[in-house]
Amino acid sequence: MDKLIINGGHPIDGEIWISGSKNSGLPILAATLLAETPMHVGNLPHLNDITTMLALLRCMGVGLTIDEKMAAEIDTSSIKEFTAPYDLVKTMRASILVLGPMLARFGEANVSFPGGCAIGSRPVDIHLRGLEAMGATIEIDEGYIRARSDGRLKGAHIFMDTVTVGGTENLLMAAVLAEGKTILENAAREPEVVDLANCLVAMGADIKGIGSDTLTIHGVERLSGCRYNVMADRIETGTFLVAAAAARGRVKVKNTTEHILESVLLKLEEAGGHISTGKDWIELDMKGNRPKAVNLKTAPYPAFPTDMQAQFTAMNAVAEGTGTVIETIFENRLIQIHELNRMGADIKLEGNTAIVTGVDQLKGAPVMASDLRASASLVIAGMVAEGETIVDRIYHIDRGYECIEEKLQLLGARIRRTAG
Ligand code: EPZ
Repeated sequence: MDKLIINGGHPIDGEIWISGSKNSGLPILAATLLAETPMHVGNLPHLNDITTMLALLRCMGVGLTIDEKMAAEIDTSSIKEFTAPYDLVKTMRASILVLGPMLARFGEANVSFPGGCAIGSRPVDIHLRGLEAMGATIEIDEGYIRARSDGRLKGAHIFMDTVTVGGTENLLMAAVLAEGKTILENAAREPEVVDLANCLVAMGADIKGIGSDTLTIHGVERLSGCRYNVMADRIETGTFLVAAAAARGRVKVKNTTEHILESVLLKLEEAGGHISTGKDWIELDMKGNRPKAVNLKTAPYPAFPTDMQAQFTAMNAVAEGTGTVIETIFENRLIQIHELNRMGADIKLEGNTAIVTGVDQLKGAPVMASDLRASASLVIAGMVAEGETIVDRIYHIDRGYECIEEKLQLLGARIRRTAG
């Protein structure tokens, strides 16, 4: 199993290129199932989760080619299999996103029931109830969701009890081909949901309220392929900015925009970061100063994103003062604090709240990654710790960060990957 070896304490100063968004690329690749003519999807990141989604489309008989820039040409006219198999879904629960589009276009979908993961149980009840409201029959059989619709799905008025990104995306993709009007209330407003909606409109969908918590969709008979580039990855953007803040350094992240992570930028300014921005770049400069601890509470967009919580916990661990971190989205997403405490952090856990008192110096140690963003927090901690940190199980990281060690090396970090 690959590991990352990090020697901490080196100055961080440089510029890096942000990749396309994993959490926008995944639903947009699923949306290609809706197109009757070929699609071109560009700016895809070269990540394990993206290649898993492409493998899933391939195993359903979708024709696809990938160029050297990870742009995908996708033709779903030859599709013959309406099943998302267990061996793929178990490695990436976002495979559930093929359920809505497959049902809408073909009237049939069999998707292995996605299990939970390290951060929580991750139910899909809202996805399934919404599809049933649109006329689908859903059965759970031998670990598979077997969905059928007799003819076209029917538009419905759906109120989602919890703000769910995947649920909003699945139901949106089901609604665009349904007969009549669908209203999705309490919809997620994440930029990745907006990116998906904009792609669907480019394919011919009729969607109003994009970016708001109420989406109104008038179903159309068919959708066509289009050329679409996925947005920049806002979590990768935030991760590298926080890494520079924790390391008291400077980073300019390019091919991204400030407008997709305002809450994160405000927290970084609160921590003492000097932030400047341009049309497609953001620069953070700590001017060598120690970051100040910040309080944060995760919540659906535009509030502070849960996917940035672990990274800020690592920054708080070496900041001046005490910061409280409250996780409200997932029931078990503070797990990284145990590994941070093994590195000498002073973090107390009270339910879904971590009280983080900054220490002057973390100590490098062998640590274990448990999920994608927790892994990133351990890498950040290793960059600022004294001595060597070995991060194990970094397959978690490879799911969501393209060439993370190369990008961090460009900033001056002493980080390398070892196989085995
Ligand atoms: C998406 O996951 C992201 N993944 C996650 O990013 C992100 O953390 C999450 O949204 C929240 O922003 C992708 O986009 C591929 P949810 P998703 O449905 O859609 C509950 C990363 O690190 N819920 O918005 O699975 C659920 O339990 C990943 O890149 C139900 O109760 O998240 C959770 O408490 C991790 N019933 C809350 O909603 C449902 O039917 C939010 O989950 C669906 C969700």
